[in-house]
Amino acid sequence: MNVVIIGAQWGDEGKGKIVDYLAKDAKYVVRYSGGPNAGHTIVVDGKQFALHQVPSGILYSDKKVFLGAGMVIDPEALFEELKMIKDNGVDWEGRVFISDRAHLILPRYRQMDKDRDASRKRPIGTTGRGIGIAYSEKAHRDGLRLADLDWTEKLADLEKEDLDYLDKYKEQLLQMRVDLTQKMWEFRKENILFEGAQGAMLDIDSGTYPYVSSGASCAAGAATGCGIGPHNLDHILGVFKAYETRVGNGPMPTEFNATSEGELCQYVRDTGREYGVTTGRARRCGYLDLVALRYACRVNSLDSLVLTHLDIYDAMDQIEACVGYEINGKIVTDFPANIDQLNSAKPILQKFSGWKTSLKECRSYKKMPKNARAYVEFIEAFTGTPVSIISVGYDRDETFIRKNPWKK
Ligand code: IMO
Ligand code: MG
Repeated sequence: MNVVIIGAQWGDEGKGKIVDYLAKDAKYVVRYSGGPNAGHTIVVDGKQFALHQVPSGILYSDKKVFLGAGMVIDPEALFEELKMIKDNGVDWEGRVFISDRAHLILPRYRQMDKDRDASRKRPIGTTGRGIGIAYSEKAHRDGLRLADLDWTEKLADLEKEDLDYLDKYKEQLLQMRVDLTQKMWEFRKENILFEGAQGAMLDIDSGTYPYVSSGASCAAGAATGCGIGPHNLDHILGVFKAYETRVGNGPMPTEFNATSEGELCQYVRDTGREYGVTTGRARRCGYLDLVALRYACRVNSLDSLVLTHLDIYDAMDQIEACVGYEINGKIVTDFPANIDQLNSAKPILQKFSGWKTSLKECRSYKKMPKNARAYVEFIEAFTGTPVSIISVGYDRDETFIRKNPWKK
């Protein structure tokens, strides 16, 4: 049995927490896309970990974790992260493996990424981690894979600066190398958790292109990014927050208005700690966008949803969510590709009564206040997708399951 976890919005939905939560029933955790642009936060017994490249299952000492071929890996950042993990008392040696087909980020890609974004007429607001450069080298067929560290002709083509850099990490990287496609076949009867990065709306194909990242953050990315056929993905979970956030540029139809909704925006940002784990940037915040969420459910064939940050609304009298857009005087309920249309979209908001009580201690759906359940059930009806897990706080334990994704 395997479970795929993807972000169903623009990233930062709380995937790290949910991967960590579900990892207790997995034998292997495999990250399949992105690289050090991701920032996955996990809180265990009040202690916080911010992971960027290492899969979120690492905190369980009995799990093996894998970095898939769909990722772009920054060796220097990876070993710094592993050191941080070790300094915090987590032994990782012998438990972290990298697909021999994964591509590597060279240090100069970071500056190239920043320069390229700065020279754009309409910057994307990338994380500056060299992600887009590494993926474009890959698409150009000029990229460098882990397996290539043993390819004599390829190495002979590299500049001295790159070779010197790679020399520092080569031995350790090769020790972690695996043929992940073979492992996927070997593990096929065991519990594997696939950890997505970024989100459905940042996917290179189905996201708000060009304001996207460069990897396959969609559910299908788990198949291509690990070497397992799409037919063999058992349960696909989409994680979403009770509201919307976005970092970087690009359309966000439900973004709070800076003046008229400035107070609400600051409240959500501060209560939800909406500041980037990777870049420290304040995230843009807005109403839950059900048009975008339903689109994410459809293009990723989500089997169920995980609702996070619901507790951020605990103190509010009233909650609003977007059920349609008004674009050029027309009502639109399917997510458009055109950026002009998305930028001019006015959200049509539906109001919900708040529950005015803390959800922090809530551990079952039945015990949730009626108004909170009404919000959840509206989302389920609108998207046609059940909500199987709800998170009511940052800690691993502040979570409850309605339907276990590990059970068929
Ligand atoms: P996690 O996994 C939120 C955004 C960047 C930028 C765009 C392109 O933590 O949810 P890139 O550096 O990837 O070329 O930047 O994508 N972005 C993310 N936003 N969460 C992420 O990851 C992101 N990874 C990339 O802010 O707008
Ligand atoms: Mg993030």
